[in-house]
Amino acid sequence: MVIIIGNQKGGAGKSTLTLLLANYLTQTKNCKVTVLDMDYQQSISQKFEKAKILENEELYEVLAYSLQHFPMMEETIKKNPKDIVLIDLPGKLDDDGLIRVFKAADIAVCPFSYDEFSFESTVPFALVLKKINPKVQLLFVPNRIKANVKYEIKVDVNEALEQIGIVTTAIADRIDFQRTNTFQTPLAVQAVIVPVFEQIFQDYIQPNL
Ligand SMILES: Nc1ncnc2c1ncn2[C@@H]1O[C@H](COP(=O)(O)OP(=O)(O)OP(=O)(O)O)[C@@H](O)[C@H]1O
Ligand SMILES: [Mg+2]
Repeated sequence: MVIIIGNQKGGAGKSTLTLLLANYLTQTKNCKVTVLDMDYQQSISQKFEKAKILENEELYEVLAYSLQHFPMMEETIKKNPKDIVLIDLPGKLDDDGLIRVFKAADIAVCPFSYDEFSFESTVPFALVLKKINPKVQLLFVPNRIKANVKYEIKVDVNEALEQIGIVTTAIADRIDFQRTNTFQTPLAVQAVIVPVFEQIFQDYIQPNL
């Protein structure tokens, strides 16, 4: 199955959540995972190469490809529906290569935050994706949520997003997220993400495996 992690908004947490979800699915759920790093900055691939230099055992493969390469891999991906392919997307919407990737997605994880800029990029991303692939399950993940901040637009944003998909439990803002890499999730981060990923796994991933 194909899970894309996307949002037009830069810095929403796409690469971080891809990495964390890959760690979680392999370490906690024993799933077979491949990460396709299609982010222009290829931040996951860089971490992966660093981890290999340090001779850490790889939990999963990370492949750096551009969106244009996706059609060549599609056949193989379809032949192995029980393997999970996580795709970290670039933060933009104006690349034709996205169409094939959008069409292939079973689930889309879309990190966002409760500010107007984030909302204004999250909605168009979700609407374009839904138009191209009406069957995709869209999961909006509130990310970098600060405990002491009152998010004025939260209720309205959730209401709007729930017209298009599901809004999951929120992920808190923690400095430890910076220390996440391809072979381990910091303990403080694990505590924050498990409730969210458990919900996603139970309700949307497991039924498709
Ligand atoms: N919950 C969180 N708490 C604290 N920091 C976070 C959290 N989620 C992400 N970050 C940090 O935010 C920054 C941006 O995250 P990330 O690179 O994952 O975003 P992105 O959506 O992939 O960005 P881009 O659009 O540039 O590819 C990173 O430094 C990351 O460590
Ligand atoms: Mg990224």
